[in-house]
Amino acid sequence: MSTSISSATAEAASNIAFIKYWGSSDPERAAPRNSSISMTLSDCRSICSATHYDGESGRDQILLADERGVLDVAPESFSRRIGAHIDRLRTHFERPGTLRIATRNTFPAAAGIASSASGFTALTLAVTRALGVALSPEELSRWSRRSGSGSASRSAFGGYVEWPDSSSDDPDGSRQLLTEDAWSLCDLVAVVETRAKDVSSLEGHRRAASSPYYERRLELLPARLDEVRAALDQRDFERLGRVVEEEAIDMHLIVFSSKPAIFYWKPGTLAVLERVRQLRADGLAAYCTMDAGANVHIICQPADEQSIHDEIARVEGVQKVLRDRVGSAPVWREGAEL
Ligand code: DP6
Repeated sequence: MSTSISSATAEAASNIAFIKYWGSSDPERAAPRNSSISMTLSDCRSICSATHYDGESGRDQILLADERGVLDVAPESFSRRIGAHIDRLRTHFERPGTLRIATRNTFPAAAGIASSASGFTALTLAVTRALGVALSPEELSRWSRRSGSGSASRSAFGGYVEWPDSSSDDPDGSRQLLTEDAWSLCDLVAVVETRAKDVSSLEGHRRAASSPYYERRLELLPARLDEVRAALDQRDFERLGRVVEEEAIDMHLIVFSSKPAIFYWKPGTLAVLERVRQLRADGLAAYCTMDAGANVHIICQPADEQSIHDEIARVEGVQKVLRDRVGSAPVWREGAEL
C-alpha cells in the first residue's frame, strides 16, 4: 500500500482562569465538579505541526523545541501523554498510520505558565487536520479536554470562555461568553518561581475534596460565577477584579487545607499580592489571580498596564514580568512548519 502524507500546523493560546477548575469526580478524564471561566491569552501560545503518514506502520515521532527553538525528542513523560492522545484521535477517526509531531511554545517553559492548555489544543487541532478531520470549535474543546488537561477545553475559543461542570447538559464542551474584541483586558504575569511545581494539578484535583472547606466552596461558586458573568456582560472591571482575586485566594485555601496539604505560594507570591493591594489603595485598578503555582497573574486595563508593569517589576522576588492580553481562537494552516 502506498503512503500518502498530509500535514497541518496549528496555533493555540493558553488561558488564565477567573473562576478555577479545582476538583474533579474523575481527574484522568477531567470531569470538573464546578464550572470555570477564563480569558484566552494572546502571546502565550503553542505551535504544533503534525504530519500523518497514511498506510505506514511504526513508531510515532514526538519532538519538542527548546528555548532556542531547536527540536529534540520530547522527554518520556511528555511523549507518553501526547502518544495516548494521538492514539485516541487516530482510533476514533479510524485513520491508522504514523504521525510526526513537533511542538514549540512561544513562552519560556521555565516561567511556570501552564503549557498544557495551549499545547493540547494546538496538538488536537494539528492532528485532526492532518488526519483530514474538520472539528467545530465545540468539538475541538471536547477533544482537547480528553487529553486530561481540563483547561485545554477553554483554549478552543478566543475571548472569555466558560466550561460547564460535569453535571450540565453538555459537560465536555466550553462556550464563548464574550469575544476578545468586546473587552480588552491585560494579564501581567509576575514570575517569582521558574521551577516546576512539586504537586501536579492532577494530584491537586484528586486531593481537593479532602479539604474540609471544599463542599462550602462548591456552595459559594454559583453566585461567584454569576458575578463574573455579570461583570463581563457590563464590562465592569472593578466588579470583575474583586471577584477574580477573591476566587483565587479561595482556591488556594482549598489547596492549603487539602490532606496532605499543598503549598504553591512562595514569598514572592505574597509580596506581589501585597504590592497590588497598595497599588489599589493608590488608585490603580489591578487584581491578582494565581493558578496551581507561585506566579501571580495581574489583571488590568490597557491604560494602566505600563505603570503596573513597572511597579511589579521592582517587587523583591519578581524575576520577570511577562505581558499578555486577551486573545483569539486557535488557527491552523496546511503544511508542517516545524
Ligand atoms: C488551577 O487539569 O487543566 O489552572 O493540565 O496542568 O493545565 P493542567 O491543569 P488542569 O487544571 C487547571 C487548574 C487551574 C485552574 C484552571 O485553569 O481552571
